[in-house]
Amino acid sequence: MQHNKIKDSVICVTGGAGFIGSYVVEELIPLQPKKIVIIDNFIRGTRENMKSFINNPIVEFYEADIRDSIKLEHCIAGSDYVFHMAALRINACAASPRDGFDVMLKSTFEVAELCRKHSVKKVIYSSSASVYGLAQHFPTPETDNPYNNQTFYGAAKMWGEQLFRSYKFMYGLDYVALRYFNAYGPRMDTDGKYTEVMIKWLDCIRDSRNPLIYGDGSTTMDFVYVKDIAKANIAALQADVTDEAFNIGNCEETSLKGLLDVLLKVNDSNLTPEYRDETSYNPVSKRLADISKAKEMLGFAPTVSLEEGMKELTDWYFSKVSAPAAS
Ligand SMILES: NC(=O)c1ccc[n+]([C@@H]2O[C@H](COP(=O)([O-])OP(=O)(O)OC[C@H]3O[C@@H](n4cnc5c(N)ncnc54)[C@H](O)[C@@H]3O)[C@@H](O)[C@H]2O)c1
Repeated sequence: MQHNKIKDSVICVTGGAGFIGSYVVEELIPLQPKKIVIIDNFIRGTRENMKSFINNPIVEFYEADIRDSIKLEHCIAGSDYVFHMAALRINACAASPRDGFDVMLKSTFEVAELCRKHSVKKVIYSSSASVYGLAQHFPTPETDNPYNNQTFYGAAKMWGEQLFRSYKFMYGLDYVALRYFNAYGPRMDTDGKYTEVMIKWLDCIRDSRNPLIYGDGSTTMDFVYVKDIAKANIAALQADVTDEAFNIGNCEETSLKGLLDVLLKVNDSNLTPEYRDETSYNPVSKRLADISKAKEMLGFAPTVSLEEGMKELTDWYFSKVSAPAAS
């Protein structure tokens, strides 16, 4: 049995009120940490996401911005481990690169500095499959290079990985970077400008409107259920592994059209998609993770199939909004 490093430890989670962060906190609690310190400015996260643990006496929540280095230091000082998950989304970085710079680069630098200063034992850094852009190989191994990435977000994530790598080399700060593929599940963002397509399709199913597909629906992604991502985070902390990056995906390639088929199936819906011309150019037409490294070194294995996950997402979403109209 592996030693439980989390037991009696103090753990800081930046972005712990967010979609993935809140599940990481839920995975941590049964492992009996002494304290979990969360810093989140609610730009995307919510109190609702934290409702299962916000009143737990071991949880200390700070509604604060990681750009506030004094608050950040307050959270990191005294922590044994840090999950650095606070970030802006890819579209938000594109809409405001300066904010992207401040949050993704400057504050990540501050996190690394503070972890070094306060002798944090290990950082688990949320990276992204975006570092690859359109990858060279499928399934994509971690050794694919990042030169095809064209986004500020992907560049920032790669920089973050390299930053922690340099801090390992210069100061011995242990870290693991996790490159999540396409995360989904309950608590994903459901409104606002950047709502994911599956939520838009669920709205169509609820309202008995034919769902729209922009383009021919052949773009593929590798969808990974949020709880599996949270488990990968725990495994990355517990494993005696450092200075490594891991793909975290399902190792299953799903086209947009295939995704819609699954969503229609789990909802017993016979709506048919309507196709529209692509409104924006997406340079990443294909995603498929090679997760053999995470399997071997972290013991990571996804446990939730796309169908099961879409069912969970549907149940959660329809209980959040009004019930689906009878078809
Ligand atoms: N969701 C995905 O598909 C996906 C894929 C790859 C990587 N990631 C990465 O995983 C991590 C978690 O993503 P998520 O999907 O849970 O997104 P999310 O937006 O739900 O979570 C990020 C959290 O960080 C908080 N935050 C943002 N800026 C902050 C700031 N300046 N100060 C304090 N808090 C701030 C937000 O309020 C939010 O709660 C992020 O680093 C993200 O880049 C996500």
